[in-house]
Amino acid sequence: MDRFETLDSLLQEERVFRPLPQLVIEANVNPQELGAARRQSEYDPLGYWEEAADELDWFKRWDRVLDDSRKPFYRWFPGARCNIVYNCLDRHIETANKNKLALIWEGEPGDSRKYTYFELYREVNRFANALRTLGVQKGDRVVVYMPPLPETVVAMLAAAKIGAVHSVVFAGFSAKALRQRINDAQAKAVITADGFYRNGQVLRLKDTVDEALVGACADCVESMVVVRRTKVGVDMVDGRDFWYEDLVRQERNTAPTEVMEAHEPLFLMYTSGTTGKPKGIVHCHGGYMVGVHRTLTTVFDVKPTDIFWCTADPGWVTGHSAVVYGPLLAGTTTVIYEGHPNYPQADRLWNIVAKYGISIFYTVPTVIRMLMRFGVQHTKRHDLSSLRLLGSVGEPISPEAWTWLYKNIGRSECPVIDTWWQTETGMFMISPLPISLLKPGSVTKPLPGVKADVVDREGNSVEPGKGGLLVIREPWPAMMTGLWNDEDRYREYFEKVPGCYFAGDVARRDEDGYIWIQGRADDVINIAGHRVGSAELEAAFGAHRNVTEAAVIGVPDTIKGEAAKAFVVVRSGAEEDDELIKDLKRHIRNELGPVAVLKSIEFRRKLPKTRSGKIMRRVLKAEETGTEIGDLTGMEDDS
Ligand code: WT7
Repeated sequence: MDRFETLDSLLQEERVFRPLPQLVIEANVNPQELGAARRQSEYDPLGYWEEAADELDWFKRWDRVLDDSRKPFYRWFPGARCNIVYNCLDRHIETANKNKLALIWEGEPGDSRKYTYFELYREVNRFANALRTLGVQKGDRVVVYMPPLPETVVAMLAAAKIGAVHSVVFAGFSAKALRQRINDAQAKAVITADGFYRNGQVLRLKDTVDEALVGACADCVESMVVVRRTKVGVDMVDGRDFWYEDLVRQERNTAPTEVMEAHEPLFLMYTSGTTGKPKGIVHCHGGYMVGVHRTLTTVFDVKPTDIFWCTADPGWVTGHSAVVYGPLLAGTTTVIYEGHPNYPQADRLWNIVAKYGISIFYTVPTVIRMLMRFGVQHTKRHDLSSLRLLGSVGEPISPEAWTWLYKNIGRSECPVIDTWWQTETGMFMISPLPISLLKPGSVTKPLPGVKADVVDREGNSVEPGKGGLLVIREPWPAMMTGLWNDEDRYREYFEKVPGCYFAGDVARRDEDGYIWIQGRADDVINIAGHRVGSAELEAAFGAHRNVTEAAVIGVPDTIKGEAAKAFVVVRSGAEEDDELIKDLKRHIRNELGPVAVLKSIEFRRKLPKTRSGKIMRRVLKAEETGTEIGDLTGMEDDS
């Protein structure tokens, strides 16, 4: 039976789903408390976040909650000292969590490993010591280029424990993309694996790192640590490359935790912007842990008995906040799966849910759309009764995908928590709680302490029902502290709309104040929930010997949400044939990696341009899709 009803104020077709009474009674945050939190964050937002900070352990308390004297460079909890890893591991060792499962990992071939908090703590300490032995010090950057393995988590936490800054690069990026990120961060060490299992195949990984470091490329790298996962043969360079297991075997089980200033960097996460160069988003120890801890525990209503599975790869921010840091801060059990959701068949995810008794399942719409196609016979075979909450992130979820998930996975009982946030925001920003009324396709309302709004270009709130720019009016604790070596580009986030943070989405708010995300307003393509910049793809095309110039836009794709379509002008004399298309596809994969999914390539004599010579992607987009997102697409100047 579906529990839905129609609110008087809404149109007939807008369904509202109510949570089960039991869920409301047992929720960490009940409706009265949510109301109180919203009111408090209106008149005393800093007090709200200060209380959130008090739930964690600090080596030294803050002098003030927020220093906003150098806007837009905000500093949360100035004067405070802490380390996020202390809060993820060390403090749990002193409590009943010590022998609780921290991490369940399942490999694609079906092998699995489990770590209690105590075991994970010791493994992290050993690897922290190993990194120190390799000469990695506080402030040094460590690139983690890994598949989803327990050691990926260990590497991140070990780096953070000694005050180094990790930068996880998704294993779907090419050697060139990896090299660019290593160089930009001037990384001292790279941590990788020999290979991994994906879709029934063994993929080699260390080879890609070797290629990234070939010759004098990325000569900042002094050492490489290799986790043995597949036993494929790899070349080890003497004095530079070390096996993970050889290193940790020699190290002690305890390691001192570096005392960090709250604003000191924890990690870099590169993400696509509107230029050819990815941006290194910087997150810190203090504010990040406060924001992530508060939002994850309230939004997912984390209970001591939960098993939390976010299907994201640790190579994205979702993997940082919702696979590693958030769940461990919350003292829950996090689950990691190495492989493909369809391997060996389309019920793999449901098999994992049933096997470990997952209670909170958080995924991306693209996975849902893919699994919907295979039908419910795959879901029916498994006992999914352990599930309590479902979650979605990364791109708008259509009402069809939402209701499919709700009915077939959630037995029409588990709320679908659609969370809006970004690499830059670090934490969930707009999202329901389990007690909220839900409308399929809406991310509902800003969380307490988050001042989100839908505005016009001048920053005025737009009327209900109208499209506008999604902005955040006030700073929040887990916000990025900056862009790596790029103050100017950081400022841009605060310059597009006066007095607000704007990171590129268009949205609409309805009569009930519910927010509906419509997509990006800039030239960032959302492919299966991953950001790929048009400009990055265009630069990659431009590097091909037969290409004069190219324009790349996002076009709708039934599974991936969006896919990239390229319009290419070829060098005179070059053949516009299938051979060239194949070669271009190979070239793009080589330049950027499999993340940059190209749907099609079309040859053009010329591209539409502004008088100043800028390519007008939105003209191509309008031609292609017959629509424009809202009336605010293209923040670029057309003069
Ligand atoms: C962009 C951020 C941190 C989440 C993973 C992606 C889109 C994110 C939603 C949602 C509609 C969403 C936005 C945003 N997005 N969540 N629930 N509904 N769109 O992080 O790579 O930094 O991408 O993803 O367009 O700007 P990201």
